[in-house]
Amino acid sequence: MTQTQGGTWQRRFGDSIMRSTAVPRVLLERGQGCEVWDADGKRYLDFLAGIAVNALGHAHPVLVEAVAAQAASLIHVSNYFATAPQLELAERLVRLAGAGERGRVYFGNSGAEANEAAFKLARLNRGDGRRTRVLALQASFHGRTMGALALTGKPALREPFEPLPAGVEHIDTTVEALEAAMDDRVAAVFVEPIKGEAGVIDLPEGFLERARELTTEHGALLVLDEIQTGIGRTGSWFAFQRTGVVPDAITVAKGIAGGVPIGALVTFGDASDLFEAGQHGSTFGGNPLATAAANAVLGEIERAGLVAEAARRGAQLRASIEGMRSPLVAEIRGSGLLLGVGLTRPVAAELAAACLEAGLIVNAPNDSSIRLAPPLIVGDAEIAEFTTLFSTALEGLA
Ligand SMILES: Cc1ncc(COP(=O)(O)O)c(C=O)c1O
Repeated sequence: MTQTQGGTWQRRFGDSIMRSTAVPRVLLERGQGCEVWDADGKRYLDFLAGIAVNALGHAHPVLVEAVAAQAASLIHVSNYFATAPQLELAERLVRLAGAGERGRVYFGNSGAEANEAAFKLARLNRGDGRRTRVLALQASFHGRTMGALALTGKPALREPFEPLPAGVEHIDTTVEALEAAMDDRVAAVFVEPIKGEAGVIDLPEGFLERARELTTEHGALLVLDEIQTGIGRTGSWFAFQRTGVVPDAITVAKGIAGGVPIGALVTFGDASDLFEAGQHGSTFGGNPLATAAANAVLGEIERAGLVAEAARRGAQLRASIEGMRSPLVAEIRGSGLLLGVGLTRPVAAELAAACLEAGLIVNAPNDSSIRLAPPLIVGDAEIAEFTTLFSTALEGLA
């Protein structure tokens, strides 16, 4: 980034964009595949993909053509009308999630909105009126709107905005804590199969299975937030599918339309009957532009076998990091192409900055973790380049 460029656009950003967002270091201009270029023409290898969003990478022709064609035909109609792309996407999501004949979908425009819908679903699971408790996990992240924020297990994010919707309790991510907290007043348990924003933290062995048993026993909904883990990223369409667990609902967003804003709540079984007409909605939700984009992305993921690729490339990426034998790397977490590199020292911000300088985009969700979430189309050449750039950055800090 040149001084002139930084001096102008960063000042404009600082003057015009809400202070809720820190001023970025780079202004990006275009992308292609796993690469992006900034306004000075500097090229970056993108191993973050807009935080697990650009599943097909940048400017993928299938997505570009689908968006252009849909925009030229019908962008938006409101929920007073149905459209073919919306129906196609709902049926596709039900099929991919394995939600069966009773599966249903609600469309919103973001991950937070998908979780808002799931929170309202939990409120409707009242039973005899006593079910007012909602359990979520400490250090979880479910979004920043008031309901999603109430579910989020990070006090520093929640506290400035209290009072939040009532009834949410954040428990330790242990089977023991869950067993101790469960009773017949719990309406729902919210779980991220891998806690992405917390630094890509895996659940303890057997946690989801026990959560399913306990929620079934007490009549609570098991809601899985698959917003970061879903759409093939972790090596299966949804992370829960690598367990024997069938949830009552999942929330999805991020990768589903490759960057066109969309979020969805998918319900299974009885949970599909909780909402009644008029109880929830969104002007933009499920509009033909976003759903056509999602159909294109999901269709291409299926056609190109990118779910299996995520598993294969993830293993390759993991092996490449292990092969660096860096004293800075303590562990590698996550699954498929959602990986967290745990560091032995709290230098994640410096490491991410060194990578950026060298032309590699990764991110530091906390002081001692680097998150990798490249596009699902990542190949040998990109992994080889990542290996060179990341190992050099690690050596620089070791
Ligand atoms: C697991 C999870 N849930 C919810 C969200 C919120 O999604 P959005 O930023 O689209 O509102 C995120 C975003 O990072 C997420 O990772």
